[in-house]
Amino acid sequence: MNDDYLKKIYKQKIKELKKHNELYYDKSKPIISDSEYDKLKNEIIKLEKKNNFLNDISSPNKSVGFKPSKSFQKYQHKVSMLSLSNAFDEEDLKNFEKKIFNYLNKKADIEYSVEPKIDGISASLTYKNNKLISGASRGDGKTGELITENLKTIKDIPKKINLDNFTKEIEIRGEVFIKKKEFLKIKDNFANARNAASGSLRQKNPEDTKKIPLNFIAYSFGYIDNRNFKKQSDFLYQLKKWGFKTNSENIILKSINELIAFHKKFESKRFNLDYDVDGLVYKVNDLDLQTRLGFTSNSPRWAIAHKFSADSANTKIINIDIQIGRTGALTPVAKVEPVNIGGVIVANASLHNEDEIKRKDIRIGDIVKIERAGDVIPHVIEVDKSKRLKNLQKFTFPSKCPSCGSDTIKEYNKTTKKYDAVRRCLNDGFGCERIAIEKLKHFISKEALNIDGLGKKVIEKFWNLNLIKKPQDIFKLNFNLIQKLDGWGEQSVNNLKLSIEKSKKVSLHRIIYSIGIRHIGIENAKLLSDNIKSISNLIEIIKKNKLDNFLSLDGIGETQITSLKRFFSKQSNIQILIELEKILNIESYQSIKNGALKNKTFMITGKLEGISRAEIKSLIEKNSGTTLSNISKNLNYLVVGNKPTKRKVDDAISLGIKIISQDDLKKLFD
Ligand code: IVH
Repeated sequence: MNDDYLKKIYKQKIKELKKHNELYYDKSKPIISDSEYDKLKNEIIKLEKKNNFLNDISSPNKSVGFKPSKSFQKYQHKVSMLSLSNAFDEEDLKNFEKKIFNYLNKKADIEYSVEPKIDGISASLTYKNNKLISGASRGDGKTGELITENLKTIKDIPKKINLDNFTKEIEIRGEVFIKKKEFLKIKDNFANARNAASGSLRQKNPEDTKKIPLNFIAYSFGYIDNRNFKKQSDFLYQLKKWGFKTNSENIILKSINELIAFHKKFESKRFNLDYDVDGLVYKVNDLDLQTRLGFTSNSPRWAIAHKFSADSANTKIINIDIQIGRTGALTPVAKVEPVNIGGVIVANASLHNEDEIKRKDIRIGDIVKIERAGDVIPHVIEVDKSKRLKNLQKFTFPSKCPSCGSDTIKEYNKTTKKYDAVRRCLNDGFGCERIAIEKLKHFISKEALNIDGLGKKVIEKFWNLNLIKKPQDIFKLNFNLIQKLDGWGEQSVNNLKLSIEKSKKVSLHRIIYSIGIRHIGIENAKLLSDNIKSISNLIEIIKKNKLDNFLSLDGIGETQITSLKRFFSKQSNIQILIELEKILNIESYQSIKNGALKNKTFMITGKLEGISRAEIKSLIEKNSGTTLSNISKNLNYLVVGNKPTKRKVDDAISLGIKIISQDDLKKLFD
């Protein structure tokens, strides 16, 4: 069979599979039997296995084998299920511990609970009055899918706990996974064991979940109504007594050196284990310390995942594409001859940035080593120069934006006194086609407006059809026209209408974040929103050139202000705010303002005893206060520590601002 013919057959089968996926998962109306469906899937996988060049993104071999079924109910986790930041080497670990010391303002011996990081699917089980009442997948961390019945088929999960000391209400978290030897029996149907577990967990019928033997290992808790243990290791011990499986490899270690030695030993041992592990998790063992350390926006400060080294393979670079991101960054991506790395077919690999290509002298036609670690995008590690053909040209990075033709620049960083490694299109905003499309994808994404039904592909399609060019266009869509488009029907259009309608009620900080301005992440958006209170105020501030006023907010600096100024220097970008204000029902952001420091502003000067700046700032915020970085009439208290800045104290005196000590501040908290 020639390649073109194979490609044609393969494409037909993929199209067929997509149709049945939609019928099964979205419409819950399958028209073929499960075995016919499995047969089709196997045929696709077999074709791919024999022919490397067949690798459609919708292949059942890619990513998670099953799309989350819309037929599952949503479940709001009582405490968010966050992810972990990663460490790859000793330096990352030292930095992790240094940040802990800085936050706690002291160097101390820290005890870590060390646990293998099983590569499965996390789940959260809620127990009330000794009974398992619900079980959910992680989802986006805040909302998961309710998969209680499927989880109940797992024998490791206790359904009832007949012990008096069991907490009245608790969310128990852990990993659902499939053992290696079980995976071997079904490996033809899935890319890897994780996909098999994920697919099995999301079956519509729990009887199907039962068919694939799943396991559960417990390792943490979310909500708990009465915590009567002090350490993570005590909790793991309790879990075992309550009847949960915990990992027999769990261990307590006391220093970075011990962690590194253990990691090294474990890395070779991992292949003998009966389940896939992709690293070790280190958690500060003391739970009170964990509470003090808290979280950054998406991961805890008190834990880190130390990954094992990645799988790699050699392949040839066919081309270098330049992708343009939401904030204008030009990112080179190597298109490579598809290669199987650890069970996943890889056809694209990141080249990071212009400097990286120069440094490694990467050329089109080179044979390169590509590495893939966990879910991280595969990247090019090195060029095999011994295999380089003589006539290969050096790669010239474009100096103009490949999308809109505007000039590009590498920004100069005043702090590091270096030019940025990343080149950016100067036309940041909605004027550059690629940037605009990426901004729109961000606007509708889960973390932003979360418009279900308007995925990335739909945005691309609607852009090409001139239906959406700016965020405001989303709210003026012509649904009659959409219903006539290929792939759309009455039901899907109604769902889209509904989710767009739902997204119109939005908090001010979320809308500021959604616009996708560089350097304005969700935390900065909250700070701004807390200060401006309404979108019309923001428009006023922009029009009156008063964005510099935000410099007084602790957390907003020159970088953010320059970015805001650049974005709003274009009238069309201000117009977006004006239009959105008309269409949306924007609620101003209210961080729970009932604490003792409600409506009070603070500034700290000098060193405080036993507490870091970061921790005191977060304590003030937890108690509903705000910290400012400048002295102004808006400041209520100047907290003076050891060796304060004289000018700040003088300014505070002259403006009549109350000057207090660390003890006075403590009394205010009480
Ligand atoms: S603790 C906030 N402990 O790793 C802390 N996670 O990137 C959350 N995982 O989604 C997780 N083994 O699926 C924790 N012993 C362990 C773990 C573990 C595997 C997974 C879990 C989570 C991901 C975090």
